[in-house]
Amino acid sequence: MPARNAARPAHPSQPGPQAWRIEVVVPAGLELLARDELRRLGRAVQLDAASPPGVIGLAYSGDLRRLLDLRLATSIYLVRQMAVPRPRALLGDEHLRRVLADCTTVLALHRPGSFQTLFLSAAGADSAVLGRLKAELAERLGLTLGAEDGDLVLRLRRGPAGMGWELLVRLAPRPLATRPWRVCNLEGALNGPVAQAMVLLSRPRPADVYLNIGCGSATLLIERLLSGPARRAIGCDTSAAALACARANLGAAGLSGRAELQPWDATALPLPTATVDVITGDLPFGHLVGSHAQNLALYPALLAEAARVARPGARCVLLSHEVRLMERLLAGMPAWLVTQVLRVDLGGLVPRIFVLQRGTSTDSA
Ligand SMILES: C[S@@+](CC[C@H](N)C(=O)[O-])C[C@H]1O[C@@H](n2cnc3c(N)ncnc32)[C@H](O)[C@@H]1O
Repeated sequence: MPARNAARPAHPSQPGPQAWRIEVVVPAGLELLARDELRRLGRAVQLDAASPPGVIGLAYSGDLRRLLDLRLATSIYLVRQMAVPRPRALLGDEHLRRVLADCTTVLALHRPGSFQTLFLSAAGADSAVLGRLKAELAERLGLTLGAEDGDLVLRLRRGPAGMGWELLVRLAPRPLATRPWRVCNLEGALNGPVAQAMVLLSRPRPADVYLNIGCGSATLLIERLLSGPARRAIGCDTSAAALACARANLGAAGLSGRAELQPWDATALPLPTATVDVITGDLPFGHLVGSHAQNLALYPALLAEAARVARPGARCVLLSHEVRLMERLLAGMPAWLVTQVLRVDLGGLVPRIFVLQRGTSTDSA
């Protein structure tokens, strides 16, 4: 990578002139987990001390392809600080070459043909200046202009006070939250990064008997198995359509032989008492799936049944928008100890991830 193509490092003294300025977008609420995931990339990562909610800024001196494997990121951008007073200056040869170099770097991370369209998101994106900018970039990169979205996504915004403008280039032709194995979608299907966060919070181990209640299209089941083996992995759902969808997605993920799909009712599981190590569930919120009235009966029965099949010390991670109902029920169930509650922003709805541990009480309610 020629040095002149390198974005300006966040911290001029470190980690060196070839550091990229990167912005990782995550569902707000998952920042701490996402920072841990980034730290696991080692010394190539230098995290900013603070970032706005849902964003993690960093300087990165490693192979950009490694960032594409991040599982908690919704999307990732290469950030170029442009010391220009107005966007018009970006049309100048030197700046345009710099932006093109960043775009070319991103295109080179993927197979030829992965990008067909270019989309520029900016305040005033329809202005004459930005119209010229995107047309020029699209022509030089051999792409067509997307009307409302694109494969190569650029964002232009004002930089920090007095720092001109910032041009961001998305590192992948799709948001990373769009998992490649998703061949079947269900209304209410869980966001991939949130599912990954729930898997991490369940502290997966190879010896686990893992049960995903109300598995729907199998998002949690697939994220669990992609993160490592389990002794037994079961997804159950009362909807035959959901199970068919789960089967298709598991097949696309290459995991068909590693998971069982069962038409079980989560309130009456045909499993022996105290035999499951980990339970996860993205419960019906009562909006798109189910109703609040149904949840008033479903939730207590489901929590009691989960407590029955869970071994003492078992981990249980549940996502729900029925926050008050969950809090009230858990306060009256000594079988479940609440170890953590995380607010997560799903873009409008802000459900909670409840991290529970099965106590030693023999009472399942
Ligand atoms: C919010 S959806 C889960 C979506 C799933 N996480 C996904 O990514 O596709 C809740 C699921 O719970 C299932 N469900 C509702 N009541 C159930 C019950 N008593 N036992 C098992 N599954 C149930 C629904 O059929 C639905 O598929």
